[in-house]
Amino acid sequence: MTTYDRISRLNHWLTALLFVAMLGFGYFLAYGGLALPEKLPLLNNHKAMGVLLLILALWRVGYRMIQGFAEPVGALPAWQERASTVSHKVLLACVLLMPVSGLTLAVFSGIPTNVFGLFTIPAVEKVDAMVIGARMAHKIVAYLLTITLAVHIAAALKHHLVDQDRTLLRMLKG
Ligand code: HEM
Ligand code: HEM
Repeated sequence: MTTYDRISRLNHWLTALLFVAMLGFGYFLAYGGLALPEKLPLLNNHKAMGVLLLILALWRVGYRMIQGFAEPVGALPAWQERASTVSHKVLLACVLLMPVSGLTLAVFSGIPTNVFGLFTIPAVEKVDAMVIGARMAHKIVAYLLTITLAVHIAAALKHHLVDQDRTLLRMLKG
């Protein structure tokens, strides 16, 4: 495969937009200094949005697993080819693990997740060890995604501006 089809491009940019927004939303909830009464309705929206993103994530990662990745645009040094494969796999893993860890946290926190009045994901009675583990996983995966994303965006810009190849263009236009 030499480029990304329309579905892949739509999947990529839709996920990119929504996941960056969710990361910002999550960090604001965690470090924005909100009092609990202000925080709770926002947290409910974060959880509901996250559940919908799990559906998008399953589709997006499944589609890539079936189709495979496109080959590099031109000949790359071996380390760059390796770095690109590894970082794309890490990004896809984070796309799945973010909502999965969030949902695990929600289910074991004892509070059901109402998804915009469409349906509700029930919770079990609170299990402290699971809450601590899932909260830690949600945080660590968020940091991993943020750092990998910074490298990913820098690499995309380097391909476009320094190497002046079609790496960014093929994700935009095919
Ligand atoms: C402004 C932000 C972003 C830019 C400029 C960007 C750019 C790109 C480009 C140019 C490619 C093609 C690489 C190639 O042809 O080998 C790509 C692929 C990829 N990007 Fe991004 N990206 C961004 C955000 C994101 C985000 C937020 C995620 C995940 C949450 C992500 C995940 C991926 C993955 C997994 C691939 C491999 C192909 C695929 O499955 O879509 N990207 N990105
Ligand atoms: C889909 C992608 C998601 C992203 C990118 C995301 C991102 C984040 C981030 C960055 C934080 C702050 C972490 C920290 O540094 O402490 C956070 C917190 C949180 N997220 Fe998510 N989240 C997602 C999905 C979900 C889902 C599906 C749920 C539950 C149904 C959820 C529930 C929570 C909760 C409860 C917190 C607060 C954790 C605490 O009490 O400290 N998230 N999220």
